[in-house]
Amino acid sequence: MHIDIIDKTKIPQHVAVIMDGNGRWAKKHKQERFFGHKKGAESAKEVTEIASEIGVKYLTLYAFSKENWNRPEDEVHSLMGLLIQGVTENLDQLNDLNIKLKIIGDFENLPENVKKSVDDSIISTKDNTGMTLIIALNYGSRWEMIEAVKSIAESYKNNDITLNDIDDKLFSQRLTTCEIPDPDLLIRTSGEFRISNFLLWQISYSELFFSELYWPDFRKQQFIDAIVDYQKRERRFGKTSSQLKK
Ligand code: FPP
Repeated sequence: MHIDIIDKTKIPQHVAVIMDGNGRWAKKHKQERFFGHKKGAESAKEVTEIASEIGVKYLTLYAFSKENWNRPEDEVHSLMGLLIQGVTENLDQLNDLNIKLKIIGDFENLPENVKKSVDDSIISTKDNTGMTLIIALNYGSRWEMIEAVKSIAESYKNNDITLNDIDDKLFSQRLTTCEIPDPDLLIRTSGEFRISNFLLWQISYSELFFSELYWPDFRKQQFIDAIVDYQKRERRFGKTSSQLKK
């Protein structure tokens, strides 16, 4: 692994990942889909370790979308099992690495056993001050934005805010990502060029990195390669290149 090729002064603060291609990886290896997810969980673990090691402050992993409930029941069940396993079996390591766990998404509507395991790990890691690992669970960007709109409408109705108070900042504060800075880099694996209802508001200015690899093949080295690629980009936020050089 070549970690030295990374410029330590230009580490993205927040990296978000759409972990796609577990099913196709399994098919390619003539295995059940579950096996692909299991291997995918290993990638999630490796990427968490390397992100924390290089100094990423926030890592968001898209583990389960609102739309994923439409998958066959046994696959949903095995994904929930992997999540429980992921947050319980790796709890000591999360604490050793000083990682704080956070969830974004519709937490209340998750099965009770998932909520319990996740909650226990959130509480156990709450005072950690290193990287924040954010798992997007039962998450959908449109759902999140509609909830924000409802909350703003409620505040307006109660005369807590005026129309002029509604701006980018207020809207961001009503999202489940309210305490998290926007992603600097969004990675998607498996050769698909889509966003799939993930952090639509938050990625307005994110750099996008698409990998041809299926998620189970995306490990530490591939994460480093994505960071190096990101470091070559010029982020202009609407300005011109020469304005930035001044
Ligand atoms: C996409 O592959 C992946 C998922 C829907 C689930 C991701 C979950 C994990 C990697 C396991 C647990 C994660 C944590 C953080 C503990 P796909 O099934 O859509 O693949 P396909 O498009 O090839 O069918």
